[in-house]
Amino acid sequence: MKERRDLDAAEAVIARPAGSVERLIALAAPDMAGVDELIVARMQSQVSVIPALAEHLIEAGGKRLRPLLTVAAARLVGAGGGSSLKLAAAVEFIHTATLLHDDVVDGSQLRRGKVAAHLIWGAPSSVLVGDFLFARAFELMVETGVLSALEILARASRVIAEGEVLQLTRAHDLNLSQATYLEIITAKTAELFAAAAEAGAIGAGAEASQAAALREYGRNLGLAFQLADDALDYGGVTETLGKNAGDDFREGKATLPLLLAIARSGPREVDFWERAIGRKEQTNDDFRRARELIIGAGAIEATLDLASDYSDRAKVALKIFPDSEWRRGLESLADFAVSRRA
Ligand code: IPE
Ligand code: IPE
Ligand code: MG
Ligand code: MG
Repeated sequence: MKERRDLDAAEAVIARPAGSVERLIALAAPDMAGVDELIVARMQSQVSVIPALAEHLIEAGGKRLRPLLTVAAARLVGAGGGSSLKLAAAVEFIHTATLLHDDVVDGSQLRRGKVAAHLIWGAPSSVLVGDFLFARAFELMVETGVLSALEILARASRVIAEGEVLQLTRAHDLNLSQATYLEIITAKTAELFAAAAEAGAIGAGAEASQAAALREYGRNLGLAFQLADDALDYGGVTETLGKNAGDDFREGKATLPLLLAIARSGPREVDFWERAIGRKEQTNDDFRRARELIIGAGAIEATLDLASDYSDRAKVALKIFPDSEWRRGLESLADFAVSRRA
């Protein structure tokens, strides 16, 4: 049975073009199946609303990028499986918890193509199940006994919260500097990508230089990923995104596409931005206008250009590793972070 499964897995790998994200996903499929089993087992609870709410979000899938980073980092340094699976499940639980909290904070209605959990079970249950998933993540990390991985992911959990709070206090600020914007996205998104890759490496017994390189890779990948996410919030389509385009605008979030468009605006447009974002007085038609102004100002392209720069830096960080299937897979993931539509 196991031989048959191994053979099927190997065939699935060869069927995908070398150096593609699909190849990486096929390579990592056996490890990711183990991660999935852990996720399903550990989201259980006697308190029935917990698995019901968690399942709603988890069964909808998601790209599972962050746990993929953890298992691939472990494989890249040569010791996959083992504790990397528990660390990867912990990483996805941390991510899932932040999504539950984030949708309450952002008032988002759609997540992974489904009605957001807080609209079904209410914000209090959503926040508390988020806390439950955080706690499950910590139990998993403790089970591995890898104290330094626990330290890395504990810090990431704290930094994400700081990033989300910093963002909250800077909403509606049309004068937000690009430096502060980068500080926010580094904390709320790039930190977990960095920690996911670094913890995978550490759990696999990597040397310090290898763990640092994977951390640097993850951080740059995460920045590219969030920049692309912020571009997609204006340039993407709800059906493929699985979440509503325009959420950032309606929330008055000062993201890079918006900041660049404002910097390139004339006085009439500045009045519009001050009303819609600064004072959050919006009509139904305002998102369409914002989108037009942002596209017209070339702000989507400029945001994606910056995302490409970070994606290149992510690939450069991998150069300390000899050429391998895993390294090429991680390189392709850096391209995917920028070119993705979902
Ligand atoms: C959403 O992350 C939150 C951001 C950092 C933009 P993903 O786009 O990875 O979400 P899922 O897990 O695939 O749904
Ligand atoms: C994502 O921020 C960061 C976290 C979830 C911590 P966003 O608010 O931009 O993510 P989406 O667009 O809701 O997925
Ligand atoms: Mg959000
Ligand atoms: Mg977003």
